[in-house]
Amino acid sequence: MSDSQELEYIARITGLGAKVPEEVLTNQDLEEMVDTSDEWITSRTGIKTRHVLGEEEDPSELGIAAAEEAIDNSPFDGDEIDLVVAATNVSDMPIPGSSPFITEGLGISEDVPFFDLKAGCSGFLYGLDVAANMIEGNYDTVLVVGLEALSRIVNWEDRSTCVLFGDGAGAAVVSSTGSSGTMLASSMYGDPSKAKLINLEGGGTRYPPANGDVEDEKYYIAMEGKGVFKSAVNMMKRSSLDVLREAGVELSEVDLIVPHQANIRIIKQLAKSLGVEMDKVAVNLEKYANTSTATIPLAFKEYLEEGEIQPGDLVLMTAFGAGAAYGSTLIEW
Ligand code: ACO
Repeated sequence: MSDSQELEYIARITGLGAKVPEEVLTNQDLEEMVDTSDEWITSRTGIKTRHVLGEEEDPSELGIAAAEEAIDNSPFDGDEIDLVVAATNVSDMPIPGSSPFITEGLGISEDVPFFDLKAGCSGFLYGLDVAANMIEGNYDTVLVVGLEALSRIVNWEDRSTCVLFGDGAGAAVVSSTGSSGTMLASSMYGDPSKAKLINLEGGGTRYPPANGDVEDEKYYIAMEGKGVFKSAVNMMKRSSLDVLREAGVELSEVDLIVPHQANIRIIKQLAKSLGVEMDKVAVNLEKYANTSTATIPLAFKEYLEEGEIQPGDLVLMTAFGAGAAYGSTLIEW
């Protein structure tokens, strides 16, 4: 960081947690379900397996488990959380969302406010940014949870989408106190001209189920894969460079980049366009596929546990997703 930077950093990530369901679906399993092959999926995406919720499991159970771990890993108790933000593409229920179920499941005081946040796969980074800003305001300790049950909204007969996604959750406790995980800067962006690139139309007010004329297809996630691919690299590159500029940090000073885990080819292209070697980029999508808002905490926590992130390391997180919402966050662990 340049000496001229005199910014006052207030928000810190003081604890992280992550959870995936037990059930594993392999590429070989998918070969039995749709006309695909392990070779196609591996070479086009880098994905080998994904975890999926059992029929009886509630999506919020994942979020609760990830949040419990994040709280345990933080210096705080659950009753010190004073705001819960649940970032998810599709909540447990359209009304009231997922955040009340998570808050109740954690046994957090009934007076604590909560809300769902929808920013596509960038939801976790948007959530961290919201938490940091709330902490600059009236809040002390904010729980951010990214949770996804994408297996419930994937068309398992559509080979072009069903191979890409998995279920999972990740969580962070953000606070003004603590000595590590300092959030140095965040740059969040949106490009509404790309709003239709990734969508799920049914169930909202534009296509309400009560009309009775909504085809099943509208209840599945749909995307224009090539369009997403092209935008993703540019979006993550732009916000990465902006957040570094804002913090006064050179790219060469960054110890690890943790990008949204959608496709290994997107990640490699991003690394190439930034001029960064892949050994400085976190990748674990081969195990979990694209878990949307959960990919970054899942990867961050895994690299932390493996000792790949050390105190003082500069870590750049970057994401893109539906909306198109995208952004980057720089932290000093
Ligand atoms: N198995 C075998 N063949 C397949 C499969 C499959 N699972 N899926 C598609 N194909 C076929 C297509 O039908 C097509 O066949 P055709 O040439 O006969 O028409 C062929 O493979 C090539 O298809 P492409 O779409 O050209 O393949 P591409 O190389 O672009 O890869 C992919 C597709 C993997 C979807 C890629 O475009 C991608 O990763 N895009 C980004 C997706 C993404 O990151 N989404 C994240 C956002 S989701 C969110 O935010 C919730």
